[in-house]
Amino acid sequence: MAFMKKYLLPLLGLFLAYCYYSADEEFRPEMLQGKKVIVTGASKGIGREIAFHLAKMGAHVVVTARSEETLQEVVSHCQKLGAASAHYIAGSMEDMTFAEQFVAKAGKLMGGLDMLILNHITSSPFAFFNNDIYQVRQIMEVNFLSYVVLSVAALPMLKQSNGSIVVVSSIAGKMAHPMVAPYSASKFALDGFFSAIRKEHSIAKVNVSVTLCVLGLINTDTAMKAVSAKLNLEASPKEECALQIIKGGALRQDEMYYGTPQWTSLLLGNPGRQFMEFLQSRRLNLNKLLDN
Ligand SMILES: NC(=O)c1ccc[n+]([C@@H]2O[C@H](COP(=O)([O-])OP(=O)(O)OC[C@H]3O[C@@H](n4cnc5c(N)ncnc54)[C@H](OP(=O)(O)O)[C@@H]3O)[C@@H](O)[C@H]2O)c1
Ligand SMILES: *[C@@H]1O[C@H](CO)[C@@H](O)[C@H](O)[C@H]1NC(C)=O
Ligand SMILES: *[C@@H]1O[C@H](CO)[C@@H](O)[C@H](O)[C@H]1NC(C)=O
Repeated sequence: MAFMKKYLLPLLGLFLAYCYYSADEEFRPEMLQGKKVIVTGASKGIGREIAFHLAKMGAHVVVTARSEETLQEVVSHCQKLGAASAHYIAGSMEDMTFAEQFVAKAGKLMGGLDMLILNHITSSPFAFFNNDIYQVRQIMEVNFLSYVVLSVAALPMLKQSNGSIVVVSSIAGKMAHPMVAPYSASKFALDGFFSAIRKEHSIAKVNVSVTLCVLGLINTDTAMKAVSAKLNLEASPKEECALQIIKGGALRQDEMYYGTPQWTSLLLGNPGRQFMEFLQSRRLNLNKLLDN
Protein backbone atom coordinates (compact mmCIF):
# COMPACT_ATOMS: atom_id res chain seq x y z
CA MET A 1 0.00 0.00 0.00
CA ALA A 2 2.81 2.37 0.93
CA PHE A 3 4.54 1.38 -2.28
CA MET A 4 1.41 2.20 -4.20
CA LYS A 5 1.12 5.62 -2.60
CA LYS A 6 4.75 6.40 -3.03
CA TYR A 7 5.29 5.23 -6.60
CA LEU A 8 2.17 4.16 -8.45
CA LEU A 9 0.08 7.25 -7.84
CA PRO A 10 2.81 9.68 -8.95
CA LEU A 11 3.35 7.43 -11.97
CA LEU A 12 -0.32 7.62 -12.85
CA GLY A 13 -0.21 11.38 -12.40
CA LEU A 14 2.81 11.56 -14.66
CA PHE A 15 1.07 9.48 -17.29
CA LEU A 16 -2.05 11.66 -17.23
CA ALA A 17 0.06 14.82 -17.36
CA TYR A 18 1.90 13.35 -20.33
CA CYS A 19 -1.36 12.66 -22.18
CA TYR A 20 -2.61 16.12 -21.35
CA TYR A 21 0.48 18.01 -22.41
CA SER A 22 1.06 16.00 -25.56
CA ALA A 23 -2.45 16.81 -26.77
CA ASP A 24 -1.67 18.49 -30.08
CA GLU A 25 -1.75 22.26 -29.97
CA GLU A 26 -2.28 23.54 -33.48
CA PHE A 27 0.78 24.89 -35.29
CA ARG A 28 0.21 27.97 -37.40
CA PRO A 29 2.93 29.48 -39.63
CA GLU A 30 1.85 32.93 -38.34
CA MET A 31 3.38 31.93 -35.01
CA LEU A 32 6.75 32.77 -36.58
CA GLN A 33 5.69 36.01 -38.22
CA GLY A 34 7.93 38.86 -37.08
CA LYS A 35 9.85 36.51 -34.74
CA LYS A 36 13.60 36.97 -34.45
CA VAL A 37 15.43 33.74 -35.15
CA ILE A 38 19.04 32.57 -35.33
CA VAL A 39 19.85 29.46 -37.38
CA THR A 40 23.34 27.94 -37.20
CA GLY A 41 24.76 25.64 -39.87
CA ALA A 42 22.41 27.29 -42.34
CA SER A 43 24.57 27.35 -45.48
CA LYS A 44 23.25 23.98 -46.62
CA GLY A 45 21.29 20.89 -45.58
CA ILE A 46 18.59 21.04 -42.93
CA GLY A 47 19.71 24.45 -41.59
CA ARG A 48 19.24 26.10 -44.97
CA GLU A 49 15.75 24.59 -45.28
CA ILE A 50 14.90 25.90 -41.81
CA ALA A 51 15.95 29.40 -42.89
CA PHE A 52 13.80 29.16 -46.05
CA HIS A 53 10.71 28.06 -44.09
CA LEU A 54 11.23 30.86 -41.57
CA ALA A 55 11.56 33.38 -44.40
CA LYS A 56 8.26 32.21 -45.93
CA MET A 57 6.64 32.60 -42.52
CA GLY A 58 7.80 36.22 -42.36
CA ALA A 59 10.39 35.88 -39.60
CA HIS A 60 13.60 37.85 -39.11
CA VAL A 61 16.56 35.52 -39.61
CA VAL A 62 20.28 35.66 -38.99
CA VAL A 63 22.11 32.66 -40.42
CA THR A 64 25.64 31.49 -39.86
CA ALA A 65 28.20 28.93 -41.09
CA ARG A 66 31.77 29.23 -42.37
CA SER A 67 31.29 29.67 -46.13
CA GLU A 68 30.41 33.26 -46.88
CA GLU A 69 29.34 32.84 -50.52
CA THR A 70 26.72 30.20 -49.79
CA LEU A 71 25.40 32.22 -46.84
CA GLN A 72 25.02 35.19 -49.16
CA GLU A 73 22.90 33.08 -51.49
CA VAL A 74 20.79 31.80 -48.60
CA VAL A 75 20.16 35.35 -47.39
CA SER A 76 19.13 36.69 -50.80
CA HIS A 77 16.79 33.74 -51.29
CA CYS A 78 15.30 34.37 -47.82
CA GLN A 79 14.63 37.96 -48.82
CA LYS A 80 12.84 36.79 -51.98
CA LEU A 81 10.76 34.35 -49.94
CA GLY A 82 9.44 37.15 -47.73
CA ALA A 83 11.63 37.27 -44.64
CA ALA A 84 10.98 40.30 -42.41
CA SER A 85 14.77 40.67 -42.60
CA ALA A 86 17.67 38.36 -43.40
CA HIS A 87 21.37 38.66 -42.54
CA TYR A 88 24.37 36.40 -42.32
CA ILE A 89 27.47 36.42 -40.15
CA ALA A 90 30.19 34.00 -41.27
CA GLY A 91 32.59 32.26 -38.91
CA SER A 92 33.65 28.95 -37.42
CA MET A 93 32.07 27.39 -34.35
CA GLU A 94 35.49 25.96 -33.50
CA ASP A 95 36.15 29.47 -32.22
CA MET A 96 34.21 30.07 -28.98
CA THR A 97 34.90 33.80 -29.09
CA PHE A 98 33.23 33.94 -32.48
CA ALA A 99 30.27 31.95 -31.13
CA GLU A 100 29.74 34.41 -28.29
CA GLN A 101 30.17 37.54 -30.39
CA PHE A 102 27.97 36.12 -33.14
CA VAL A 103 24.96 35.98 -30.82
CA ALA A 104 25.51 39.56 -29.65
CA LYS A 105 25.78 40.81 -33.23
CA ALA A 106 22.74 38.85 -34.37
CA GLY A 107 20.72 40.20 -31.45
CA LYS A 108 21.71 43.73 -32.41
CA LEU A 109 20.78 43.19 -36.06
CA MET A 110 17.28 42.00 -35.13
CA GLY A 111 16.75 43.99 -31.95
CA GLY A 112 16.32 40.90 -29.76
CA LEU A 113 15.88 37.17 -30.10
CA ASP A 114 12.90 34.81 -29.91
CA MET A 115 14.36 31.51 -31.08
CA LEU A 116 17.87 30.07 -31.16
CA ILE A 117 18.11 27.10 -33.54
CA LEU A 118 21.35 25.19 -32.96
CA ASN A 119 21.96 22.91 -35.91
CA HIS A 120 25.59 23.02 -37.15
CA ILE A 121 27.96 20.06 -36.92
CA THR A 122 31.53 19.51 -37.98
CA SER A 123 32.04 16.72 -40.47
CA SER A 124 32.77 13.30 -39.05
CA PRO A 125 33.48 9.99 -40.75
CA PHE A 126 31.10 7.05 -40.90
CA ALA A 127 33.66 4.37 -39.96
CA PHE A 128 35.22 2.38 -37.14
CA PHE A 129 36.67 4.64 -34.44
CA ASN A 130 40.28 5.27 -35.44
CA ASN A 131 41.71 6.31 -32.05
CA ASP A 132 42.00 9.91 -33.19
CA ILE A 133 41.66 11.82 -29.90
CA TYR A 134 42.22 15.18 -31.58
CA GLN A 135 39.16 14.50 -33.71
CA VAL A 136 37.04 13.57 -30.68
CA ARG A 137 37.94 16.87 -29.04
CA GLN A 138 37.18 18.83 -32.20
CA ILE A 139 33.80 17.13 -32.59
CA MET A 140 32.92 17.74 -28.92
CA GLU A 141 33.88 21.41 -29.24
CA VAL A 142 31.93 22.14 -32.42
CA ASN A 143 28.92 19.85 -31.88
CA PHE A 144 28.55 20.36 -28.13
CA LEU A 145 30.62 23.07 -26.45
CA SER A 146 29.76 25.79 -28.98
CA TYR A 147 26.05 24.99 -28.41
CA VAL A 148 26.55 25.75 -24.72
CA VAL A 149 28.43 28.97 -25.49
CA LEU A 150 25.75 30.10 -27.94
CA SER A 151 22.90 29.39 -25.54
CA VAL A 152 24.65 31.13 -22.64
CA ALA A 153 25.14 34.21 -24.82
CA ALA A 154 21.52 34.10 -26.00
CA LEU A 155 19.79 33.43 -22.70
CA PRO A 156 19.40 37.05 -21.50
CA MET A 157 17.59 37.93 -24.74
CA LEU A 158 15.54 34.73 -24.68
CA LYS A 159 14.43 35.43 -21.12
CA GLN A 160 13.16 38.82 -22.20
CA SER A 161 11.12 37.38 -25.06
CA ASN A 162 9.98 34.16 -23.33
CA GLY A 163 11.86 32.56 -26.19
CA SER A 164 13.01 29.10 -27.22
CA ILE A 165 16.17 27.10 -27.66
CA VAL A 166 15.96 24.41 -30.34
CA VAL A 167 18.72 21.81 -30.30
CA VAL A 168 19.07 19.61 -33.38
CA SER A 169 20.22 16.15 -32.35
CA SER A 170 20.00 12.67 -33.74
CA ILE A 171 18.78 9.23 -32.96
CA ALA A 172 22.53 8.60 -32.41
CA GLY A 173 22.16 10.92 -29.40
CA LYS A 174 19.60 8.59 -27.84
CA MET A 175 20.96 5.11 -28.61
CA ALA A 176 24.29 3.50 -29.43
CA HIS A 177 25.33 3.82 -33.05
CA PRO A 178 28.50 2.07 -34.24
CA MET A 179 30.59 3.90 -36.87
CA VAL A 180 29.86 7.33 -35.40
CA ALA A 181 31.14 7.04 -31.82
CA PRO A 182 32.49 10.61 -31.37
CA TYR A 183 29.47 12.14 -33.14
CA SER A 184 27.15 10.02 -31.00
CA ALA A 185 28.98 11.15 -27.84
CA SER A 186 28.53 14.81 -28.80
CA LYS A 187 24.79 14.28 -29.38
CA PHE A 188 24.36 12.39 -26.05
CA ALA A 189 26.13 15.34 -24.40
CA LEU A 190 23.51 17.71 -25.84
CA ASP A 191 20.74 15.60 -24.29
CA GLY A 192 22.52 15.54 -20.91
CA PHE A 193 23.15 19.26 -20.83
CA PHE A 194 20.03 20.71 -22.39
CA SER A 195 17.58 18.31 -20.72
CA ALA A 196 19.08 19.33 -17.36
CA ILE A 197 18.82 23.00 -18.30
CA ARG A 198 15.16 22.47 -19.25
CA LYS A 199 14.49 21.13 -15.75
CA GLU A 200 16.38 24.04 -14.18
CA HIS A 201 14.24 26.48 -16.16
CA SER A 202 11.12 24.79 -14.90
CA ILE A 203 12.34 24.91 -11.28
CA ALA A 204 13.52 28.52 -11.47
CA LYS A 205 10.44 29.62 -13.47
CA VAL A 206 12.53 30.75 -16.42
CA ASN A 207 10.11 30.79 -19.35
CA VAL A 208 12.58 29.72 -22.04
CA SER A 209 11.65 26.41 -23.67
CA VAL A 210 14.22 23.82 -24.72
CA THR A 211 13.34 21.49 -27.60
CA LEU A 212 15.56 18.52 -28.41
CA CYS A 213 15.09 17.31 -32.00
CA VAL A 214 15.80 13.62 -32.50
CA LEU A 215 16.29 12.98 -36.21
CA GLY A 216 16.65 9.80 -38.21
CA LEU A 217 18.44 9.70 -41.57
CA ILE A 218 17.72 12.86 -43.59
CA ASN A 219 18.54 13.25 -47.29
CA THR A 220 21.09 16.07 -47.06
CA ASP A 221 24.10 15.88 -49.41
CA THR A 222 26.45 15.42 -46.46
CA ALA A 223 24.52 12.53 -44.94
CA MET A 224 23.93 10.82 -48.28
CA LYS A 225 27.63 11.00 -49.13
CA ALA A 226 28.70 9.81 -45.67
CA VAL A 227 26.49 6.73 -45.47
CA SER A 228 26.15 5.86 -49.16
CA ALA A 229 25.95 2.08 -49.48
CA LYS A 230 26.99 1.65 -45.83
CA LEU A 231 23.47 1.83 -44.42
CA ASN A 232 20.28 0.12 -45.56
CA LEU A 233 17.88 2.82 -44.58
CA GLU A 234 15.42 5.14 -46.33
CA ALA A 235 16.25 8.83 -45.86
CA SER A 236 13.51 11.35 -45.06
CA PRO A 237 13.18 14.71 -46.89
CA LYS A 238 15.11 17.65 -45.44
CA GLU A 239 12.37 20.18 -46.31
CA GLU A 240 9.74 18.43 -44.16
CA CYS A 241 12.33 17.78 -41.47
CA ALA A 242 13.10 21.50 -41.27
CA LEU A 243 9.40 22.34 -40.94
CA GLN A 244 8.93 19.82 -38.13
CA ILE A 245 11.91 21.29 -36.26
CA ILE A 246 10.37 24.78 -36.40
CA LYS A 247 7.02 23.34 -35.33
CA GLY A 248 8.55 21.59 -32.32
CA GLY A 249 10.21 24.83 -31.25
CA ALA A 250 7.13 27.01 -31.80
CA LEU A 251 4.94 24.60 -29.80
CA ARG A 252 7.61 24.57 -27.06
CA GLN A 253 7.78 20.76 -27.06
CA ASP A 254 10.43 19.10 -24.89
CA GLU A 255 11.37 16.66 -27.66
CA MET A 256 10.39 16.03 -31.26
CA TYR A 257 11.15 12.97 -33.37
CA TYR A 258 11.38 13.01 -37.15
CA GLY A 259 12.52 10.49 -39.75
CA THR A 260 12.54 7.67 -37.23
CA PRO A 261 10.41 4.51 -37.30
CA GLN A 262 7.00 4.60 -35.63
CA TRP A 263 7.14 3.96 -31.89
CA THR A 264 10.65 5.45 -31.67
CA SER A 265 9.53 8.34 -29.48
CA LEU A 266 7.75 5.93 -27.17
CA LEU A 267 10.71 3.56 -26.91
CA LEU A 268 13.52 6.13 -26.78
CA GLY A 269 11.40 8.65 -24.85
CA ASN A 270 12.31 6.22 -22.10
CA PRO A 271 9.59 6.01 -19.44
CA GLY A 272 12.18 4.49 -17.07
CA ARG A 273 14.32 7.59 -17.33
CA GLN A 274 11.32 9.89 -16.93
CA PHE A 275 10.20 8.03 -13.83
CA MET A 276 13.69 8.21 -12.27
CA GLU A 277 13.89 11.91 -13.11
CA PHE A 278 10.54 12.44 -11.43
CA LEU A 279 11.72 10.65 -8.27
CA GLN A 280 14.94 12.63 -8.26
CA SER A 281 13.15 15.94 -8.67
CA ARG A 282 11.32 15.26 -5.39
CA ARG A 283 14.66 15.00 -3.58
CA LEU A 284 15.85 18.48 -4.55
CA ASN A 285 15.67 20.88 -1.64
CA LEU A 286 14.11 23.76 -3.56
CA ASN A 287 14.01 26.23 -0.68
CA LYS A 288 17.77 25.99 -0.32
CA LEU A 289 18.42 26.02 -4.06
CA LEU A 290 16.21 28.97 -4.93
CA ASP A 291 17.56 31.06 -2.02
CA ASN A 292 20.91 31.87 -3.57
N1 LIG B 1 21.31 14.53 -42.27
C1 LIG B 1 21.06 13.56 -41.43
O1 LIG B 1 20.88 12.40 -41.80
C2 LIG B 1 20.95 13.86 -39.97
C3 LIG B 1 20.52 12.83 -39.11
C4 LIG B 1 20.40 13.08 -37.75
C5 LIG B 1 20.71 14.36 -37.28
N2 LIG B 1 21.14 15.32 -38.13
C6 LIG B 1 21.50 16.63 -37.57
O2 LIG B 1 20.95 17.67 -38.35
C7 LIG B 1 21.83 18.79 -38.31
C8 LIG B 1 22.12 19.27 -39.71
O3 LIG B 1 22.68 18.22 -40.48
P1 LIG B 1 22.85 18.31 -42.06
O4 LIG B 1 22.83 16.95 -42.60
O5 LIG B 1 21.91 19.33 -42.59
O6 LIG B 1 24.36 18.87 -42.14
P2 LIG B 1 25.12 19.62 -43.35
O7 LIG B 1 24.27 19.66 -44.56
O8 LIG B 1 26.46 19.02 -43.45
O9 LIG B 1 25.26 21.10 -42.81
C9 LIG B 1 26.14 21.39 -41.75
C10 LIG B 1 26.19 22.89 -41.58
O10 LIG B 1 27.12 23.20 -40.55
C11 LIG B 1 28.07 24.13 -41.04
N3 LIG B 1 29.37 23.90 -40.40
C12 LIG B 1 30.23 22.86 -40.57
N4 LIG B 1 31.34 23.02 -39.85
C13 LIG B 1 31.19 24.20 -39.19
C14 LIG B 1 32.02 24.94 -38.30
N5 LIG B 1 33.23 24.50 -37.94
N6 LIG B 1 31.56 26.10 -37.82
C15 LIG B 1 30.33 26.58 -38.18
N7 LIG B 1 29.52 25.94 -39.03
C16 LIG B 1 29.94 24.75 -39.53
C17 LIG B 1 28.11 23.90 -42.54
O11 LIG B 1 28.51 25.05 -43.26
P3 LIG B 1 30.06 25.41 -43.58
O12 LIG B 1 30.71 24.16 -44.07
O13 LIG B 1 29.94 26.48 -44.59
O14 LIG B 1 30.64 25.91 -42.30
C18 LIG B 1 26.64 23.62 -42.82
O15 LIG B 1 25.93 24.83 -42.96
C19 LIG B 1 23.06 18.34 -37.52
O16 LIG B 1 22.95 18.75 -36.18
C20 LIG B 1 22.99 16.84 -37.61
O17 LIG B 1 23.64 16.20 -36.53
C21 LIG B 1 21.26 15.11 -39.46
C1 LIG C 1 6.68 36.60 -20.70
O1 LIG C 1 5.89 35.84 -19.84
C2 LIG C 1 5.51 36.51 -18.65
C3 LIG C 1 4.78 35.53 -17.80
O2 LIG C 1 5.58 34.39 -17.68
C4 LIG C 1 4.68 37.73 -19.00
O3 LIG C 1 4.36 38.43 -17.84
C5 LIG C 1 5.45 38.62 -19.96
O4 LIG C 1 4.64 39.69 -20.39
C6 LIG C 1 5.93 37.84 -21.16
N1 LIG C 1 6.79 38.67 -21.98
C7 LIG C 1 6.74 38.66 -23.28
C8 LIG C 1 7.68 39.57 -24.00
O5 LIG C 1 5.97 37.94 -23.92
C1 LIG D 1 5.79 31.37 -21.51
O1 LIG D 1 5.91 32.04 -22.73
C2 LIG D 1 5.03 31.59 -23.72
C3 LIG D 1 5.40 32.29 -25.02
O2 LIG D 1 5.36 33.66 -24.89
C4 LIG D 1 3.60 31.85 -23.28
O3 LIG D 1 2.71 31.36 -24.27
C5 LIG D 1 3.35 31.13 -21.97
O4 LIG D 1 2.07 31.45 -21.49
C6 LIG D 1 4.39 31.52 -20.94
N1 LIG D 1 4.22 30.65 -19.79
C7 LIG D 1 4.21 31.12 -18.55
C8 LIG D 1 4.07 30.09 -17.49
O5 LIG D 1 4.29 32.30 -18.30
